[in-house]
Amino acid sequence: MSRYHVKSFGCQMNVYDSERMGDLLAGEGHVAVDSPDNADIVVLNTCHIRERAAEKLYSDIGRLRKPRADGSRPVIVAAGCVAQAEGAEIGRRAPAVDVIVGPLAYHRLPDLLREAAAIPEDARGARWGRAIDTDMPASPKFDHLPPRRHQGASAFLTVQEGCDKFCTFCVVPYTRGGETSRPQADLVAEAHTLVAAGAVEITLIGQNVNAYDGGSAGTDSLPGLIARLAEIPGLKRIRYTTSHPRDMTQGLIDAHARIPKLMPYLHLPVQSGSSRILKAMNRAHTRESYLATLAQLRAVRPDIALSGDFIVGFPGETEQDFQDTLDIVAEVGYAQAYSFKYSQRPGTPAATMADQVPEPVKEERLARLQAAITAGAYEFNKASVGRITEILLERPGRKPGQLIGKTPWLQSAVVEIPGAKIGDLIAVQITQGQPNSVEASPLQAERAAA
Ligand code: SAH
Ligand code: SF4
Ligand code: F3S
Repeated sequence: MSRYHVKSFGCQMNVYDSERMGDLLAGEGHVAVDSPDNADIVVLNTCHIRERAAEKLYSDIGRLRKPRADGSRPVIVAAGCVAQAEGAEIGRRAPAVDVIVGPLAYHRLPDLLREAAAIPEDARGARWGRAIDTDMPASPKFDHLPPRRHQGASAFLTVQEGCDKFCTFCVVPYTRGGETSRPQADLVAEAHTLVAAGAVEITLIGQNVNAYDGGSAGTDSLPGLIARLAEIPGLKRIRYTTSHPRDMTQGLIDAHARIPKLMPYLHLPVQSGSSRILKAMNRAHTRESYLATLAQLRAVRPDIALSGDFIVGFPGETEQDFQDTLDIVAEVGYAQAYSFKYSQRPGTPAATMADQVPEPVKEERLARLQAAITAGAYEFNKASVGRITEILLERPGRKPGQLIGKTPWLQSAVVEIPGAKIGDLIAVQITQGQPNSVEASPLQAERAAA
């Protein structure tokens, strides 16, 4: 029996995968520990989306390989999208790595650990190269994973994986392979397991979750899956992320009007407000088509909170293109948004495009964009004051007696409710808007029911 620690560096899919690698290790009789420092097996589940992500892997390996006070060092597993993209190269750069496993092959982690352990200590230099699996098998890993052990009020559920869109800046189609959907029946079963273990909220995840098509056997799409999951009695809230504007169908838009358990929140990355840049990014949507989609959503669900991702400094981005991005932020009124400096990713078309934007220009644009996004989020939070709603309690607050929950619009809400506990859904009124959160006070039971 060993102690293991899995560290996630990436997106929600990466977090889901970390949890599932934990399930595999627990299934082998190993026990989870909170820190890599007292673990016998450390899994570094990496992300390749921007360059600093890979640097974090190498600095972690550097720290882990140093012998501890008792002379031991943990077995080191490099997993995730960097493992997929760089493969054996990781072992050449960091020979202390024992196992390299990609995001489509991690169901083989227990086997790979056994392979690595069978290699004698004196062959350590060559050891890494032999316990590696970065295949992209046709047979999906999900069929080989043990049942979920997830405990907690909120859970992720991977419904779709991979990407066929090939945005010119992005590594995901290369690290995660093509779009595949899991069969609806498997997902309904996994959701039942989660709910039986206490989940009241499930977030359906995928690189392009709204491209979900029911798996090879099915023809059903994401709104059909959501409707099916909404029938599970103990499940109170359903969310999904990340969506691509191109796959925002009328059926999915209508689901926001039809299915009360579907939360009024949508993360719909636009990347840029300039149609010229969107074309160079191969996004397959324009500024206008994106805004038209949002208008349709707001027509059926006027309170929907919107979120997005932005890239500044894509090759060829002019000050005018960037102004178009600032404009779209003001026009949409995002509840929150993520923004990044363009990062040249090896092997992607944009990496070798002419007119790369100098670093200081990217930095200056990012600062202006983030200021606009932050101001917009504050406005959104202030505008929600007075709303009567429910929050799902997630964690203790900073001060004694405080709890932090999530509103339907995914705002963090701070409350003081004697006797309430993590996982409770409670009726509140929002009393104050802060830049990154709201304050709320509990409602009397009879008022909440009204
Ligand atoms: N499938 C999702 C995004 C997944 S990647 C979508 O299409 O919206 C998450 C975010 O990382 C992207 O939305 C993008 O904003 C950012 N990103 C991806 N590649 C990047 C790069 N090369 N440089 C900077 N940001 C990048
Ligand atoms: Fe990357 Fe574009 Fe696919 Fe999103 S849609 S994962 S940004 S290639
Ligand atoms: Fe990163 Fe891979 Fe997710 S590159 S963003 S961990 S799909």
